[in-house]
Amino acid sequence: MKLSHQKDPNPKKLNLKNNPLMSNLSLDCENLWPFISEQEISNFQSQVNLCHDQLEGGTREDAGYLGWLHLPSNFSDTFIVEIESAAKNIRDLCEAFIVVGIGGSYLGARAGISYLNSSFSNQIDRDGGPEIYFAGQNISSDYHADLFDLISSRDVCLNVISKSGATTEPAIVFRLLKDILEKKYGLAGARDRIVVTTDSRHGALKSLADEQGYKTFVIPDDVGGRYSVLTPVGLFPMAVAGINIEELIAGARQAEKLYSMPSLDQNDAYQYATIRQLLYLKGKTTEILATFQPAFQYLAGWWKQLAGESEGKDLKGIFPASVEFTSDLHSMGQWIQEGNRNIFETFFTLEVSRRQLKIPAFQNDVDDLNYLAGKTLDMVNEKAWMGTAKAHKEGGVPNMTLKIKDRSPYSLGQIFYFFERAVAMTGTLNGVNPFDQPGVEFYKKNMFKLLGKPGI
Ligand code: PA5
Repeated sequence: MKLSHQKDPNPKKLNLKNNPLMSNLSLDCENLWPFISEQEISNFQSQVNLCHDQLEGGTREDAGYLGWLHLPSNFSDTFIVEIESAAKNIRDLCEAFIVVGIGGSYLGARAGISYLNSSFSNQIDRDGGPEIYFAGQNISSDYHADLFDLISSRDVCLNVISKSGATTEPAIVFRLLKDILEKKYGLAGARDRIVVTTDSRHGALKSLADEQGYKTFVIPDDVGGRYSVLTPVGLFPMAVAGINIEELIAGARQAEKLYSMPSLDQNDAYQYATIRQLLYLKGKTTEILATFQPAFQYLAGWWKQLAGESEGKDLKGIFPASVEFTSDLHSMGQWIQEGNRNIFETFFTLEVSRRQLKIPAFQNDVDDLNYLAGKTLDMVNEKAWMGTAKAHKEGGVPNMTLKIKDRSPYSLGQIFYFFERAVAMTGTLNGVNPFDQPGVEFYKKNMFKLLGKPGI
């Protein structure tokens, strides 16, 4: 957003300039003003400066996890070509491609593929590319048995992704799949069909990859799981799915320029981060990301992990939730309109769909919808967003809207980087370390004990 909002009752403390750089993402804050003011946002500038310096200066104790900050600009063309060429090999070799990973090692790829490809891409022609499946993101026997049935009649390749190389869920599923591939193709045949993405030195997966001679991509040491979508963790599966990763990285590079400026006047990601923190301090402890496109479903999932794992610690943090409208207006809409007022909403809307559908006229207007004849579904969806945002504001729910121009790889690169910057900033403003996840160990410890893991 350009932080110049006509409806602010206490306007003007920020010196709001037009950002000279073009963004496909914009922030609309009109429905925030009864709840917060521009003055309150601008009061955060000195704190934002401090947090920005901490992030950029590499002086934090977690400085070893800040590699994602300038990943897009540091990406070499040679490396992009290496990913593309490995992806082409896999596309030529298989009919089904399985991504094995959990958390930050799978959500980004899933988000990107759903955002960009057809809602039914596994059922339609994909320019000769494989169907894409995900495994190891749970340990459901039925889910995996069903998947194995489905792939039994297809030529299969897989990409196992784990930074630690030791995460139980994907490690178990990889064992099962490795066995299936080796029975089907023999040891050497299976080797050609397995790509490993892991740490450069440590972990069981790295040792196995070295021992078996699998094609391997490295996750940089200084990039944590949920900030790794712009590494081979996200880029390789997306390239296999036929996504133009050069364009995606170009979008992320542009975002790196746009959102690396400390000034709240100029940086939408920091504005969004600051608004979140401000609302949180006013008791709005749950943020609902509300989308109007099924293609955004897994992007919301990726965002929830990024925000939840980064910010929820030390008994603090916004709880990130998501809904898909208008579908969920018929389930969660009632709660949002009239339930506990501890929430704020971030609408995530698409400005222009790839294709337009027009509503036809009925001769006898039996359903009384002829007033919409000739109008597009996009137009109706937009009015649904506007009507919902107004109703929720009137119901006491502060809300803002992130508008994305289109479903292009360029836009997606901007979205990924935007949220990474914003979440890192909100976490830092709230005084937590946004790059660790100590709480995740607790369930593992109990599970390992119950499983009888040696040494526990
Ligand atoms: O953000 C994180 O670090 C986590 O969500 C990890 O991505 C997740 O736990 C998977 O870890 P690994 O890649 O080590 O298997």
